[in-house]
Formats: sequence, structure tokens, C-alpha cells
Amino acid sequence: MWGGRFDSGPAGVMKDITPSIDFDKRLARQDIAGSLAHARMLGATGIVSADDVEAIVKGLETIAREIAEGRFVFRRELEDIHLNIEARLKEIVGDAAGRLHTARSRNDQVATDLRLYIREACDEADARLAALQRALVDQAATHCETIMPGFTHMQPAQPIVFAHHCLAYVEMLSRDRGRFADARGRANESPLGAAALAGTSFPIDRDATARALGFARPMRNALDAVSARDFALEYLSAATICMSHLSRLAGEIVQWTSPAFGFVRLSDSFTTGSSIMPQKRNPDAAELVRGKTGRVLGDFVALTTVVKGLALAYGSDLQEDKERVFDAADTLALSLRAMAGMVADLTVDKDAMRKAAQAGHPTATDLADWLVGRLKLPFREAHHVAGRIVRRADELGLALDAMPLAEMQAIAPAIAKEVFDVLGLEASVASRVSYGGTAPARVREQVLFWQETLR
Ligand code: ARG
Repeated sequence: MWGGRFDSGPAGVMKDITPSIDFDKRLARQDIAGSLAHARMLGATGIVSADDVEAIVKGLETIAREIAEGRFVFRRELEDIHLNIEARLKEIVGDAAGRLHTARSRNDQVATDLRLYIREACDEADARLAALQRALVDQAATHCETIMPGFTHMQPAQPIVFAHHCLAYVEMLSRDRGRFADARGRANESPLGAAALAGTSFPIDRDATARALGFARPMRNALDAVSARDFALEYLSAATICMSHLSRLAGEIVQWTSPAFGFVRLSDSFTTGSSIMPQKRNPDAAELVRGKTGRVLGDFVALTTVVKGLALAYGSDLQEDKERVFDAADTLALSLRAMAGMVADLTVDKDAMRKAAQAGHPTATDLADWLVGRLKLPFREAHHVAGRIVRRADELGLALDAMPLAEMQAIAPAIAKEVFDVLGLEASVASRVSYGGTAPARVREQVLFWQETLR
């Protein structure tokens, strides 16, 4: 492609270090779309003759078919997807192929391809996130009254309903969708026509190519257009944050399926056995999603490090962007699929959840609140009194709602039998009616909201 000023060929190691075709062949579809838009624009502006453009377009369409059908031969000596396609175009249409690269550089070409790819990756993430949200909302809809312990510090804190827990993840995932939408919005500008870095003297129409590719507008600054990779970083950071959310849910599934908890059960379809211990039912997919989070963060860190301190405009360092993006996109898609599958699959053991909710006096806050509401104690004093009652309950080996009234009155004489109205799990949960609270009445409203929103 650039033999004109070279006397000899590259060193052996160059053949190993320069090619990107092994991975950037994944951009073939985007590359052809970009070339089609560019070729048609060259025709419309009279930069290239109509006949040549027609030949180029037909040739590119043939190549697209060859690639889709797996008949295209990718060649490492042709370095990357751009040069592979151009070389094949020359074989098919002859000299006209040489006019396609007028007013264009691989620098704006690759930036265009990757933006098109990331736009699709954002759309895919959105669709998969919505599917996972639906699976969570389905579980929530059946468990608005299923009581489980809510934890802080992994200690039983206050009873909640399982739907409340599921919907917390639905909220997190909806912010993830917002991040992908934001990333998509900023990625959706066209670098095409920036050429190498300085623009071009040809009378190109960048609005036309931007429009043809569905970009909102051409990028204003040619130097920025070929240098910028923050759109990829935004995608990777949205993917990283999303993976961190998936890892929390995955981690909880690992805990909940452990016999020590027994809150949920995954069917055989989402469980693996052990080669030595016959009793095992391992939640592998959940563990793997949890584990893969680090890998997506690694992708983000790697690309940030590539871009850091890199002088404008293009540097071959930027060739390192694609594998990071592909790896993150593949990992995210796989993880979202696995999570949606597991969430839909899991069955809840209501008794186990309820039993666990009874341990550790989770209604102690309700007792303190009752002392405030009925006996008009300041909350700090009520907290202290409730603490003493909890200690006595522990001594007697009793749950709070099984404590004899006299035992409580020995600590706070004004306590009346109405206190038992708030000490049970159902009463506790039902009382938390504040906006966003765990009361089944509130949670059912949220389920309806999400069913409507996700329809
Ligand atoms: N293969 C290159 C990449 O992946 C394409 C752009 C190459 N541009 C250049 N001037 N060497 O980034």
C-alpha cells in the first residue's frame, strides 16, 4: 500500500507486531458501511466518477456477502481490516478500487468503525439489561409478601420483603441503561472525512456521510475526531459499573444458594456438580460473573492507560483499543445473559428466608420506634431500653415477640401489651410505608411501575 518510498520489506517481528486483522476483522461490517457512505459521497460531490463509484459499491457489497458467508480470506500481511477489504476490492473491481481512499485515511476510518461498533454495543447492553430487569420484576411480582432478613454489615438489620431486594437491582440496572444511553449519545458523531488529522482539500460532504451512517453530526474538529477514544472509555466505564452491579447480585446468589443460607435454589440447569464431592450443587455461573467483573475493569484501566499522555493525533498505540472493547462487550453480554437466566430460574424458599429473618432480633428498631411513639421517649433513650430488652431476650433464648410482657415491664414499666403489634415480622414490614419503603403496599406500587415501564 505504501511501497512507493520503501526499498526493503519489514523485519520479521514487524509481521508479528503490526497486524490487527486477527481482531479487527470483527469490524468488517462497520468498515464496509463506512466505505459505502464514503464512496457514495465521493460520487455525489463529483470527486470520483459515477461509473467508478458504482463499481466500488458493487464490489463492497460482494465483499460484505463473502464475509457474511465466511468465504473471505483475511490476510495477516495486509495488516488490518481496512487494507484487507481494499485489497480484495482491487481484485474484484480493478483500478477503481484505488479511488475509494480519496479524502480519507485509516485514522478516520478506524475511528468511524469503532464508533459504529460501540453504538451497537450500547444498544445490545440496553436490550440485555431490560431482559434482566424483567426477570427481576417477575420474581418481585410473586414475592411482595415474602419476608427475608435485610442486612447491613452482613448482620440481620430489619426484615424486608424479597421483592424489595429484587427491585433494588432493577433500579441499579436502570441507571446502567442510562449510562449506556449517555455513552451512545456522545459516541454518535462522525469522524469520517477528518482524513489523517487535518481534514482534506477535496470538496467532501461530511454531513452526507454522517447522515448515511446514522450519526447525529460530523465531529467539529478533525484532529479530535481521529485522536479521541473517550467514547470507548465511556462505554468501558459504563460496562465496568454495570459488571460491579452484576457481581453484587451474583455474590448474593452464591450466598443465598449456600446451604448455610438456603434462601434460593437454582435448578439443575444452572448448577454444576463436583468431581469429588457428590453432594455439591455449585452456582458456577454466578461465581463466574462475579469473577469476570475484574476483567472488564481491566479493559477500562488498560485503555485509559493507552490514551494517557498520548500526543495528538493518531498513534499506533490506539490500535490497542479494539481488543479491550471487544472483550468487555463479549463479557458483559455473556454475564447479562447468565444473570437473566439465573434470576428467572431461581426458586425461593420462603420458610428458610422467614426463619433467617427471625434470628437476631430484626424488629428491635420497631420496638424502639414504639417506645418513642407511645411512651414519648427520646429516640436515644428508646434505643437504650430496646437494647436492654434485646439482651434479656438473648438470655432467655427468646425472640422479641415471644418475650413475656412482664420481662419487658421489668425493664420499662410503662410498656403495654400493644407493643406486640409491632414486634412480629409482618407488622414490622407492613409499617414501613414511607416512599421507597419495604411495606408490601409500597413495593406492589413499584412492581406495577416497573411492569408498565418495561412493557
Ligand atoms: N489498524 C489500525 C488501528 O487499529 C488502523 C489505523 C491505522 N492508521 C495508521 N496510520 N497506521 O488503529
